[in-house]
Amino acid sequence: MCGIVGYIGGKRAIDFLLDGLTKLEYRGYDSAGVAVNCGGDNIFVEKAVGRLDSLKQKLKNNLPAGNVGIGHTRWATHGRPSDLNAHPHSDCNGNFFVVHNGIIENYLTLKQDLIKRGHKFISETDTEVVAHLIEENYHGDFVLAVRNVLAKIEGSYSLLFMSKFHPDTLIAAKQDNPLIIGIGKDGENFIASDIPAIISYTRNTYILNDGDIAVVQKDKIQFINRQGTPITKKIFHVSWNAEAAEKGGYEHFMLKEIHEQPKAVRNTISPHLNGKVTFNELNWSADFLNNINKIYIVACGTAYHAGLVGKFYIEKLVRKLVEVDLASEFRYRAPIVDENTLVIVVSQSGETSDTLAALKESKRLGAKTLAVTNVVGSSIAREAEFVILTNAGPEIAVASTKAYTTQLILMFMLALYMAQLSNSIPQAEIERLIKLLKKIPAQISETLSDVEPIKTFAQIYGFNDDVFYIGRSLDYCVALEGALKLKEISYIHAEAYAAGELKHGTLALIVEGVPVIALATQKSVYDKTLSNIKEVKARDAVVIAIAAQGNDQLSNYTDHVIFVPDTDELLIPLLTVVPLQLLAYYAAITRGCDVDKPRNLAKSVTVE
Ligand code: F6R
Repeated sequence: MCGIVGYIGGKRAIDFLLDGLTKLEYRGYDSAGVAVNCGGDNIFVEKAVGRLDSLKQKLKNNLPAGNVGIGHTRWATHGRPSDLNAHPHSDCNGNFFVVHNGIIENYLTLKQDLIKRGHKFISETDTEVVAHLIEENYHGDFVLAVRNVLAKIEGSYSLLFMSKFHPDTLIAAKQDNPLIIGIGKDGENFIASDIPAIISYTRNTYILNDGDIAVVQKDKIQFINRQGTPITKKIFHVSWNAEAAEKGGYEHFMLKEIHEQPKAVRNTISPHLNGKVTFNELNWSADFLNNINKIYIVACGTAYHAGLVGKFYIEKLVRKLVEVDLASEFRYRAPIVDENTLVIVVSQSGETSDTLAALKESKRLGAKTLAVTNVVGSSIAREAEFVILTNAGPEIAVASTKAYTTQLILMFMLALYMAQLSNSIPQAEIERLIKLLKKIPAQISETLSDVEPIKTFAQIYGFNDDVFYIGRSLDYCVALEGALKLKEISYIHAEAYAAGELKHGTLALIVEGVPVIALATQKSVYDKTLSNIKEVKARDAVVIAIAAQGNDQLSNYTDHVIFVPDTDELLIPLLTVVPLQLLAYYAAITRGCDVDKPRNLAKSVTVE
């Protein structure tokens, strides 16, 4: 979490800093701050608790003129959101300034020792120790001081340093959290946590690896490792366009991203269809697959929900055992993994700390590793042995939508690819499924074509305290995702249950007027689901069903039905999730919530 920016060049630094922070606000919005070197002894510092707008408001008539600066948008970990805890942090004498994304795990010991040696702390953050350590380790050589500090701190970080004594230099360092350098054209360079911050300034970047230190000047960028040895890095050219990272006329990024799903899914499918399903980047053989006796899918949040669907795909089409695990659990429970295990990690950002750690642990245990991610060059993409990409384009809204559907389609194609290799299902069945999968982008468009009824339901039921989601089989997996969407952006208490589980406890919560969203698309368990719907209806719940077109009899047992186009029951999650995303979106609007930036959350979770 947290977003970092830096500028060094010939222009007014504050303009890039504020623009870059605006693009990175999805990474955290508990506070924001900047430090700009205005020459001589004059370092301008301003910080504000809350959204970036509060900082902008404070700066309104007082924009610093300096050409070198650093900035930060915070997602609080150590110390509550406040002006004092906002970054940049500095040492006792205001000679060094630092912004940080991550956690310094040994900060308490370091802080106690620094206090004993006379340092005065003003914040509750872990980051402030870094500024005081620099002060202590500086004897005229800025780079050496940074290297010595990095040798003392433990944990995860991307760090950016500025010093009054070196107005021509910014120093960046990375361990486990992302950091990129944007190469400017006119004697200027940029530093940021993520590409959207710099894309309107340059497309040529360096992506820092763990252990890299970048010494950035306006016309020079040098890289060294922590031992001080120079390293050479390749330029990474960003192919996204700037508009893709903007709202494009929609009121919120989330709505834009929901509507981008047909294109995102089409872009994810097309590189892998060539009569049959192909993954040139995998190039697996039947033997490779035969040797795999167990598959784990490991992820967090929405990506975990996509993993649950992926399990169905692989088990049904490839007939191999798949376990799905939350990354934060998997990494700490000594998973049974060896060289015959394939660990698939799923992550939109490619930076989620728990998922990255689970991936590293799997590698250490000898597993084959495959990353399904949306970000080329992300930490997870670089760490995994194999990588396949969702081509969703940048996802900015905190609530994930197009990343989920592209993860689903890519995992469906992965399962088909494995089925082709292992001959686990007849060729004719593969061909039938490919035909249906090609129709999915158009079917998502059709699902998106009439949002009015969903808006109305959101307005009617948006003020309920509790909402339940039920379904069986793949409908249950989608129900989990629908409930997560509703709770994270509208703050309504929402729970998803396997419909068959209701009678084992949850039915006690169903009383008159409680909304129950019932997914009823899985033909193999349809009758059972219908019985569960009748059970909640008998307790006077209000049932909104999601069903495939043609299922006209369902309206006899429910209050409302939202229809999606019909397809195979394996593919229908790509369609049923769409009304659930829209329902969450419009419920949040009805309740006046900040859709793109829900409270307490951030887009990229780079802390444990
Ligand atoms: C919810 C959401 C999160 C993410 C989770 C993993 O809408 O977006 O639950 O899915 O934080 O993030 P990635 O996929 O970046 O690893």
